Amino acid sequence: METVLVVGATGNIGVSAVQAALHSGLQVLAIVRNQASAEKLFLHLGTRDRIITVEADITSDSGVRSVVDRVKDGKLPPFQHVYSAAYLRQIMNVNFESNFCKSAIRSTLMHDDELMSGAVAYRDTVPYLLQQNHPKATWTLCTGASGDWGLRAAPGMTQGALFAMANVGCRDNADTNVRFNEVYLACRVEVDSSAKKTGAMKASDFAPVYEVILSKPEIKGCRISVHGPADLKDLKVKKKFEA
Ligand SMILES: NC(=O)c1ccc[n+]([C@@H]2O[C@H](COP(=O)([O-])OP(=O)(O)OC[C@H]3O[C@@H](n4cnc5c(N)ncnc54)[C@H](OP(=O)(O)O)[C@@H]3O)[C@@H](O)[C@H]2O)c1
Repeated sequence: METVLVVGATGNIGVSAVQAALHSGLQVLAIVRNQASAEKLFLHLGTRDRIITVEADITSDSGVRSVVDRVKDGKLPPFQHVYSAAYLRQIMNVNFESNFCKSAIRSTLMHDDELMSGAVAYRDTVPYLLQQNHPKATWTLCTGASGDWGLRAAPGMTQGALFAMANVGCRDNADTNVRFNEVYLACRVEVDSSAKKTGAMKASDFAPVYEVILSKPEIKGCRISVHGPADLKDLKVKKKFEA
């Protein structure tokens, strides 16, 4: 059975990625912060079936690598797909109004854990996927429209950097076995229990986006844009670069 490694598995987007993988008949290797987070994931999903959790600090330089090393040692199952849905709250309180020059730029450039966790996950998993040479391998990165809106400095600049990372991933893997894609999210998605209260899009409603990505080999090097519910019915898929 193919396995999806989910980075940030217990968050809003991670839960939807896990749901999508399970609906697609795949197994999940979920990186979790600790056992309490793992239990939160099982609670959101209502099942433990086909989910293996592994603890790692995704903000650490060696966090994802330690997971890949355990896979290589045969202690965890091999994976063919990666979904990166990490989000680090500590930088989010910095806003444009507060103290842009002094703290936002410093925070974004020097403590940009969100970008770092995505980049580290990429660095530590893509070589493994290339080595495995599985014909259906995928790597999916969730980015947010705050990088275009510029309403708050730290998330805006972080997402801008993630857009660039998506460009590199698409170019880097254009001629490889790895289908790299970016999911660009311009609306709020939350785990179902939370979305029911706030009116945000439910993670379970968002999950089919990743199911389509997993199932369609022609979606490679693309940005899939989701601005609202209408984009779930008719996916907006656009190639990042012409061949
Ligand atoms: N949700 C949206 O509507 C939305 C919109 C646009 C873009 N995005 C992008 O999607 C990504 C995920 O967003 P989200 O809403 O799913 O975030 P979230 O709900 O805050 O989830 C963050 C995930 O990262 C994990 N994490 C954070 N620090 C960690 C650490 N040190 N070690 C291990 N795990 C750690 C969290 O684990 P714990 O559960 O243990 O805290 C959680 O699984 C972000 O890049 C965000 O910018 C999301």
